[in-house]
Amino acid sequence: MTVSPVWWAHDRLMLLDQRLLPTQELERAYTRWEDVADAIRTLVVRGAPAIGVAAAFGVALAARQSPATTFDALLADLETAMKGLAATRPTAANLFWALERMKRGALESRGVPLDQVRTGLLAEAQAIRDEDIAANQAMGALGAALVPPNARILTHCNAGALATAGFGTALGVIRAAHAQGKVGRVWVDETRPVMQGSRLTAWECVREGIPHTLIADVVAASLMARGEVDLIVTGADRIAANGDTANKIGTYSLAVLARHHRVPFYVAAPFSTIDPALPSGEHIPIEERDPAEVRRVGGQQTAPAESPVFNPAFDVTSAALITAIITERGVFRPPYHFA
Ligand code: MRU
Repeated sequence: MTVSPVWWAHDRLMLLDQRLLPTQELERAYTRWEDVADAIRTLVVRGAPAIGVAAAFGVALAARQSPATTFDALLADLETAMKGLAATRPTAANLFWALERMKRGALESRGVPLDQVRTGLLAEAQAIRDEDIAANQAMGALGAALVPPNARILTHCNAGALATAGFGTALGVIRAAHAQGKVGRVWVDETRPVMQGSRLTAWECVREGIPHTLIADVVAASLMARGEVDLIVTGADRIAANGDTANKIGTYSLAVLARHHRVPFYVAAPFSTIDPALPSGEHIPIEERDPAEVRRVGGQQTAPAESPVFNPAFDVTSAALITAIITERGVFRPPYHFA
């Protein structure tokens, strides 16, 4: 069993605090949607699918918090919660997808006794979580088939069990390929500035005995030039209808390098990451984060406090640079039409 960063236990939402990894494994319990929103904003839980699952449970908590005695009053409280949860991280499509699905669930239960509406919403959040794990396992099987024997695979950020309900997307593909004995080595980008690669992906690899080597982000180009990368696989935060893909900052430069060095560049993501309403990547909202993430390393100041900072959390890789997009419904190749 791989780790899960988000689960329901004893009437509470449980989150593994990812800010403290790899040195501390701390589980936090949540009973209020406001605290779940805060946990998403502050990266206690992160990774597009995991954010979506946490938000769905946030809505279920909001239903339990609400003192409403009529359906319309309950719906008003749910809408407040959904608005608050939606305002946390703008890029991850799964967040909005999960909130929409919870809203639909609520609307469809008009006329049902309110205690059943509340249990129904919790069941819906559980279903979103279970389906995410199943989707990741399906992607793992499909993606592993693309991996050659003894592969040297580079990945960026953390698109592992920690970024999902469990198993992972990009790291799920690697996990499945490893189970088939196909992984020679995983090159793990440390992923400045928040270090999801070194703190989280390397932690998952150590736990599961996946052979890996940590590299500073700047090393990827020379590894490709030396012929030491057979393929790259990353996750996605949002995929536009034409296949343009937003993912952790630095992904785009890897895709450009991959094209130059003729290295296949794969994206693995569930359908809940695809935003069919957006025709192309230029419409994807890109989150900008706290300048302190760039001015500091490990809590230590490494730049003048006065230096202005540009800190986008994501970039967009054009569909033309993506060899294939691995989803739970199949492997899509350009030109991308997700049906
Ligand atoms: O800022 P984060 O840590 O939430 O960014 C995560 C990523 O960019 C992941 O690659 C993406 O969400 C896919 S996770 C399966």
